[in-house]
Amino acid sequence: MSADVKLQQASLTEVRTPLLVVNLFEAAERPGGATATIDQALDGLLTRLIEDGEISGELGEVTVVHNQMDRSRLAADRVAVVGLGKRDDFDLEAVRVAAASAARRVRDLRLSRFATIVHGTGAGGMDARLAARAVVEASLLALYSYDQLKSPPERPTVAVEEITLVERDSERAERFEAGAREARLVADAVGLARDLSQGPGNLVTPTVLADRARQMAESRGVACEVWGKDELREKGMNAILAVNAGSVQEPRFVTLRYAGGGPEARTLAVVGKGITFDSGGISIKPAEHMENMKHDMSGAAAVIGFVQLAADVELPVNVLGIFAATENLPSGSSYKPGDVIRAYNGRTIEVNNTDAEGRVILSDALAYAAEQEPDAIVDLATLTGACVVALGRYASGALGNDEALLGLMRGAGDAVGERVWPLPILREHRKDVESSIADIKNSAGRHGGAITAAAFLEHFVADRPWVHLDIAGTAYTEGQSHVAPYLPKEGATGVGVRLLHEFARRWAGV
Ligand code: BES
Ligand code: MN
Ligand code: ZN
Repeated sequence: MSADVKLQQASLTEVRTPLLVVNLFEAAERPGGATATIDQALDGLLTRLIEDGEISGELGEVTVVHNQMDRSRLAADRVAVVGLGKRDDFDLEAVRVAAASAARRVRDLRLSRFATIVHGTGAGGMDARLAARAVVEASLLALYSYDQLKSPPERPTVAVEEITLVERDSERAERFEAGAREARLVADAVGLARDLSQGPGNLVTPTVLADRARQMAESRGVACEVWGKDELREKGMNAILAVNAGSVQEPRFVTLRYAGGGPEARTLAVVGKGITFDSGGISIKPAEHMENMKHDMSGAAAVIGFVQLAADVELPVNVLGIFAATENLPSGSSYKPGDVIRAYNGRTIEVNNTDAEGRVILSDALAYAAEQEPDAIVDLATLTGACVVALGRYASGALGNDEALLGLMRGAGDAVGERVWPLPILREHRKDVESSIADIKNSAGRHGGAITAAAFLEHFVADRPWVHLDIAGTAYTEGQSHVAPYLPKEGATGVGVRLLHEFARRWAGV
């Protein structure tokens, strides 16, 4: 139900549309470029609004005016002027914020379509393909809504069905089309990850998550293997089984193999945490906000979305996607504080807190990934509340054993607006996870919680180059006011899909 994207090769004043989006830099005294053309057609209305201070050009500001002129002068019914912010701060993220703000306003106005220029390609001097991708991607992501569980009268009756990019120059129009095509695939993959993460725990069970991964794989010619309890027992994946012990839902272990690079190319393993509901288990969580723990499979959702995207854009790398899925619930059969379990790689784990279950299932998943000898491993997990305390909701934590890989991840995050921020793993943090009865313990308490979690995971990557992304703060929003307008105000963000895509491209040198 996502909007169609079209390209119209025409001059701006000719475009027949309910709403045409143009832009303005902050502190601009008068409109320039495309906006100046529209201003002339409106007899200087935009200039007057700027002079009167009603349009400031502040990033994300949207001002809608009705076209009172003859349609032969200006064919659009309305014009929206979106602020691009300060010229000196202008970047692709500003393009995304501007485009998303405009798209949201169109939705609020209940219009079914709109046309827009591609911000940044005039005086902004941006690459046409990248800017077009940013405009379309941010618009589609901003228009996303999870309404499949709403009965018809509650559903939005008018959705934005069509977005038109306007460009007169044919060479540029071609570049726009390429960018728009990529944006569509990106938005679809992020949408899949959001749908899975937003889906309630009773509907998105481990079995369903695995089935959705398989469906995705089958439709794209990606190899997919799904294991249940029997296989996990056979393989000795006791850590996943331990977390699953309190649940009546079967666990799933899913492997996706996308061979986009051929036998010569390097392989990137991406490993996701797939806890479809985290109650904490016997170390039960407080009731308040526990419903958010349906999102505790967002790492797995990112893996599924990224593999889909890799296949759709034909990324020239080999991707090994892995996730372990289970609920974490208390019952008479649950794993308990004090239990010791032996993970897939033979390491023994003392469970001193059953709520630190993410690292427990990741122990088996990472050890399995490492055994496949990939050239790098990235894991994504809504792993610790401590990471949310440390970084808030505007950046994912990034930890690992390879500075170059971490640097690459940071650059990728900055480029796509899914920022990551490094946290160290110090010798003492490694000591913190040592156990008196087993090799390691799963909880080292509150201090440096995001770091000790990573120090635990490090035991399972067999010295492969590895980045751990703690997405606990970034996987969903809770109505906070400063998140980007292309993210939902409340609910799953689909974080990780765009980040992995950009990271994989840079890693593969494409
Ligand atoms: N899924 C949670 C982490 C989490 C918290 C994600 C808040 C998103 C928002 C994880 O399984 C967990 O419970 N971690 C514990 C670890 C502790 C027991 C060492 C935590 O962060 O409190
Ligand atoms: Mn937990
Ligand atoms: Zn969890």
